[in-house]
Amino acid sequence: MSKNFDVVVIGGGPGGYIAAIRAAQLGFNTACIDEWKNDKGGPAPGGTCTNVGCIPSKALLQSSEHFEHANKHFAEHGISASDVKIDVAKMIGRKDTVVKQNNDGILYLFKKNKVSFFHGRGSFAKAADGAYEIKVAGKEEETITGKHIIVATGSNARALPGVAFDEETVLSNDGALRVGAVPKKLALIGSGVIGLEMGSVWRRLGSDVTILEGLPTFLGAVDEQIAKEAKKAFDKQGLKVELGVKVGEVKTSKKGVSIAYTNAKGEAQTLDADKLIVSIGRVPNTIGLNAEAVGLKLDERGAIVVDDECRTSLPNVWAVGDVVRGPMLAHKAEEEGVAVAERIAGQHGHVNFNTIPWVIYTSPEIAWVGRTEQQLKADGVAYKAGTFPFLANGRARALGDTTGMVKFLADAKTDEILGVHIVGPMASELISEAVVAMEFKASAEDIARICHAHPSLSEATKEAALAVDKRTLNF
Ligand code: FAD
Ligand code: NAI
Repeated sequence: MSKNFDVVVIGGGPGGYIAAIRAAQLGFNTACIDEWKNDKGGPAPGGTCTNVGCIPSKALLQSSEHFEHANKHFAEHGISASDVKIDVAKMIGRKDTVVKQNNDGILYLFKKNKVSFFHGRGSFAKAADGAYEIKVAGKEEETITGKHIIVATGSNARALPGVAFDEETVLSNDGALRVGAVPKKLALIGSGVIGLEMGSVWRRLGSDVTILEGLPTFLGAVDEQIAKEAKKAFDKQGLKVELGVKVGEVKTSKKGVSIAYTNAKGEAQTLDADKLIVSIGRVPNTIGLNAEAVGLKLDERGAIVVDDECRTSLPNVWAVGDVVRGPMLAHKAEEEGVAVAERIAGQHGHVNFNTIPWVIYTSPEIAWVGRTEQQLKADGVAYKAGTFPFLANGRARALGDTTGMVKFLADAKTDEILGVHIVGPMASELISEAVVAMEFKASAEDIARICHAHPSLSEATKEAALAVDKRTLNF
């Protein structure tokens, strides 16, 4: 295998593997180094997203949703299903199979695109003439060179100070996806994206779930009206979220975990549980990269400092994804990876940060793009709002899932769409129309005048656009 490459990508998550494929498509001799190991010690490219993030969490969300439907919703369709049980080992096994399919898929894509894959840890050795030497510590140690380096080393779960993850009782996202039996009582710290998704999985399977959240507001980054609607639905489901808490000592024992905290009223409380998932955000990962060897600049959070185009402090060294500023999302990492490969080729790769969609895969799903109503108020932007409830949508009624709404925010003068916020069924899919519309700088009227299939959930999007001009047809 060649040792001298045009482009070397360190990290094979969504940022790295996509950057490597795009670089190879553009004609560069490309290598991708990734150290993730499967349970047999073999390569498992795909990073956090594939191995312990997006993909396995969605697999468990799907399984647990089927379980909840069989238990709670089949009867209304006239289907009787008694004695419904969950085989957790089988559910986890299915999730592992889905992960492996994705790992294998990426290895296949590397072959197809002629990307040289190295399994091991990549670290900077030195800057040589016109190239960088990268040490790969795998089964054997070898050194390769790259004229351009793309760092895509991702992020790790943030631990509570003084409370290490043992992945038995105190779980990061990794352990949370490998729990062997349904915990009777499950505690989570942090009601962000992971807290709500993983809390939902185990609640649906029968755990008594309590999430302790430090902030006084629920989902502060989400449009307030949408967050309120989501909170109502979670309360109804019995997913307990305590806001405004201050977590104190966390003690583990053979029996489980005991969390001391003060509640929003300042009262001392204790929460006992069988397991604790800590989901309080993630930290950029540069462990083992030996960034110091070449003087790669990091910021105070440990993220690699980059400009708007993902250029680092070093010539021809780029960084993308969770290890740099911006939202920690797989699709953001991918877009940055593509843009960097294209910039290396002298093209004009571009990532529009204003149109990156967010999705929380709970039930109801929450999805949004653009600015929230509270942001528009804070920015002093004159806007018009339109909402349409799924309760008035025929397809939602047929599905038996009428929670939530679609909300449009448009410029008061020009009618340009400034934000779209959805809580409800298939919000993750519905949001794409809004992303496309915003990319094309569409107005609410544009969406209102487009023919949407009937009956479909997307009609709620059209109706919310009509609502901006106060002319909904079905509500
Ligand atoms: P990563 O995916 O973290 O990949 C980095 C890779 O680099 C890893 O394989 C790592 O082993 C490797 N690596 C690190 N250092 C080295 C080194 N020195 N040498 C060789 N290899 C190295 N995002 C979404 O958009 N949608 C979701 O639904 C979603 N769900 C999530 C659920 C959970 C539970 C978690 C934890 C995250 C989720 N995310 C989701 C976030 C998403 O996983 C990340 O934003 C995404 O993985 C970032 O991609 P990346 O390529 O920057 O880094
Ligand atoms: P998060 O940033 O979404 O949420 C963390 C929550 O923990 C916040 O609400 C914060 O206020 C709270 N918190 C922080 N410190 C605390 C403390 N000491 N005590 C109590 N509460 C505390 O982070 P999370 O859920 O860990 O996820 C990490 C990232 O992974 C997300 O930001 C997202 O980028 C990505 N992700 C994306 C998913 C998706 O796109 N569907 C799914 C899961 C993760």
